[in-house]
Amino acid sequence: MTTCTATQPATAQSAEPAAYTPDVAERVDHIYTKMRSVVPEIEWPVFAPEIDAILRLKAERNAVILAHNYQTPEIFHGVADIVGDSLALARRAVETTASVIVQAGVQFMAETSKLLNPEKTVLIPDLGAGCSLAESITPTDVRRLREAYPDAPVVTYVNTSAAVKAESDICCTSGNAVRIVESLGAERVIFIPDEYLGKYVAGQTGVQIITWAGHCEVHERFTPQELIEYRGAFDDLCIIAHPECAPEVLAEADFVGSTSQMIGFVREKQPDRVLLVTECSMSDNVAAEAPETEFVRPCNLCPHMKRVTLPGIRSSLETLEPEVTVDPGVAVAARLAVERMLEVQ
Ligand code: 13P
Ligand code: SF4
Repeated sequence: MTTCTATQPATAQSAEPAAYTPDVAERVDHIYTKMRSVVPEIEWPVFAPEIDAILRLKAERNAVILAHNYQTPEIFHGVADIVGDSLALARRAVETTASVIVQAGVQFMAETSKLLNPEKTVLIPDLGAGCSLAESITPTDVRRLREAYPDAPVVTYVNTSAAVKAESDICCTSGNAVRIVESLGAERVIFIPDEYLGKYVAGQTGVQIITWAGHCEVHERFTPQELIEYRGAFDDLCIIAHPECAPEVLAEADFVGSTSQMIGFVREKQPDRVLLVTECSMSDNVAAEAPETEFVRPCNLCPHMKRVTLPGIRSSLETLEPEVTVDPGVAVAARLAVERMLEVQ
């Protein structure tokens, strides 16, 4: 007799992949043109039947797919209805009239969508899609910080659990962190959990920032030395970085911004050669629509974002699982912190 136990699968279980038939080709081959420059032709027959099935299921389920900028090109360009940074996805989550939201991103993003849409079904293809920042802090940590600095409001990066958001005065994203901190008019604020984003905000605002030692495991791997070497190796290299990078890395960048602000910079300035100091799928997604720009790619992947796949999305839509829920004991306070953020223009 065996003593092993089975645990509940956290990942949507995929059915057999469908075949790349002439009918499938007729329905979805036009989509390939959007990703031709970054997805090898040999991979398309694998992706096409999945994309075909997902488009059909989305219509049947009245579902919308919200995809973060770090999703792979076959998701980002193939099936997403809305793409963007954390702020854009939160804003668009409020606006959707769909009954089902599939979050092609990580757990904290899906929780934010659920907080803003308590009556909708919110799915994430893999419940294990976490985030090193979200894991770096607990509600008890936040309460201790408040006790230590009772005069300072708590600004919480959205890359946190709903339970941590519930302990906060207001949330922020990388796209609005400076604006949010300035909107409080406080001399000092507790800014959690991203130490580097907190330091970046301090430098931009002059507000005294009490930081927490949380880091993004993807962005903390970049070093100033490697950027200096890239600059030496490539003429006219435009370096744009995400503020989750260390201050010494940001000091080497020509522009700092959220993932959508980085994309906006490339679209507007159309640099000849660019290095995006962030997760590597984003370079693919931007390169697909900016053929005139050469992308220099140091590649740091987010293992959490990469848990989301086309078969996982298809399976979520088939089974309506795994569903994201938020503990009712924290939902009201967490929603308030997110809504306060959305009210700041
Ligand atoms: P933004 O897309 O909001 O800039 O965030 C980056 C990130 O790391 C999300 O996990
Ligand atoms: Fe978290 Fe960093 Fe991955 Fe974003 S890139 S989900 S911050 S670990």
